[in-house]
Amino acid sequence: MSDKQATLNAGGKDVTMAVRSGTIGPDVIDIRKMYADTGMFTYDPGFTSTASCDSAITYIDGDEGVLLHGGYPIGQLAEQSSFMEVSYLLLNGELPGKAELADFSRTISRHTMLHEQLMQFYRGFRRDAHPMAIMCGVVGALSAFYHDSTDIADPIHRKISSHRLIAKMPTIAAAAYKYSIGQPFVYPDNTLSYTGNFLRMTFGVPAEKYEVNPVVEKALDRIFILHADHEQNASTSTVRLAGSSGANPFACIAAGIACLWGPAHGGANEAALNMLQEIGTPDKIPHYIERAKDKNDPFRLMGFGHRVYKNYDPRATVMQQTVREVFESLKVTNPVFEVAIQLEEMALSDPYFIEKKLFPNVDFYSGVILSAIGFPTTMFTALFALARTVGWVAQWNEMISDPGQKIGRPRQLYTGPAQRDYVPVDKR
Ligand code: ACO
Repeated sequence: MSDKQATLNAGGKDVTMAVRSGTIGPDVIDIRKMYADTGMFTYDPGFTSTASCDSAITYIDGDEGVLLHGGYPIGQLAEQSSFMEVSYLLLNGELPGKAELADFSRTISRHTMLHEQLMQFYRGFRRDAHPMAIMCGVVGALSAFYHDSTDIADPIHRKISSHRLIAKMPTIAAAAYKYSIGQPFVYPDNTLSYTGNFLRMTFGVPAEKYEVNPVVEKALDRIFILHADHEQNASTSTVRLAGSSGANPFACIAAGIACLWGPAHGGANEAALNMLQEIGTPDKIPHYIERAKDKNDPFRLMGFGHRVYKNYDPRATVMQQTVREVFESLKVTNPVFEVAIQLEEMALSDPYFIEKKLFPNVDFYSGVILSAIGFPTTMFTALFALARTVGWVAQWNEMISDPGQKIGRPRQLYTGPAQRDYVPVDKR
């Protein structure tokens, strides 16, 4: 227990508040009794200075460009680990031993099928439905099928629900894609890896044998690792807030998917790829850099800048390397990668981007890779949701397991009319 304190002079009164320290990162001022002591709330729309919970899962230092899961740097995990192993780490706080990993992977693979009646939900959607619209609906509907694991007070139920969600998400996302292109659903093959199985369900057809390309499998697995968790971002906070009322995990994850859908969150890789395609050739880059710097032009370099990272997004470094591997393996000659590399070089040596600390973020290269693999842009956010599900369930579980957990209920600064008397309609 820290003996550090902070004193606030509010309403002519000095109020002393405890300061709490984490393992690393900034201290926090515990303001929980502030309203009782001062009659005032704090005001922080966008939560730029507010820690909403204790969490032992993920740590970010945006100034230094550091991202750790369970203390392990994301670069090391992306290079040396697998999505299943990182999932175990996020859920359990420690890397698994060999037997634990095998057991966990087996458990996840046993939950990959969807209830057959759930598959019929798809046919109720229009063919051109956005995969995220389908994901919101189908994931929310899981709660109607798995009553046996929705007692959130029971840790075993929570574990089973978490496994179900992680396991079924690839099946749900792949089926959304198959439905949109009019091909038959491909059922899971549990002999394949988590990512290999997803590739087969997405790109395979029942009429032909599908060979998983190991370079593509590795690249996509890495993309899943890079998106697995990012502490208290908008969608994770949405999951926690929804879960704080005691809602079942399937409903909470559906809420997270809805939040992720927004272009300021999960939709940026699609925008970055569109921008790179619009630039088209390296000779046009200077024109677009000038546009990004022009205050009177709303254009921004998509995939550049981040609310938290004021340094190179560590995930972007891994992505850049992965693009190279995928392009070489698939013999892709798309000029978009050359445009991306040169755009990055030019922007990073330009005083505007240096002064504003604008660096490539994870989305700058991920769209390029996903498109080379064959995913349409509409699937990009669905893939993000698939990978982030483990982070969402880990954070949800952590919240429910916290004995001090309360329903989330922000306060407000009211700016509407003060109390007034009702006026009948004929007198208004
Ligand atoms: N291109 C050009 N200028 C930019 C860019 C950019 N991509 N990003 C920020 N700036 C400028 C702003 O114009 C602003 O300039 P000013 O101080 O002269 O007004 C300054 O940098 C600060 O920008 P803010 O928007 O205030 O920074 P904030 O932290 O709120 O925004 C954000 C972060 C939304 C990510 C922003 O950098 C952006 O719009 N980037 C492009 C979209 C993008 O790539 N989003 C993906 C984020 S990663 C993810 O969600 C997984």
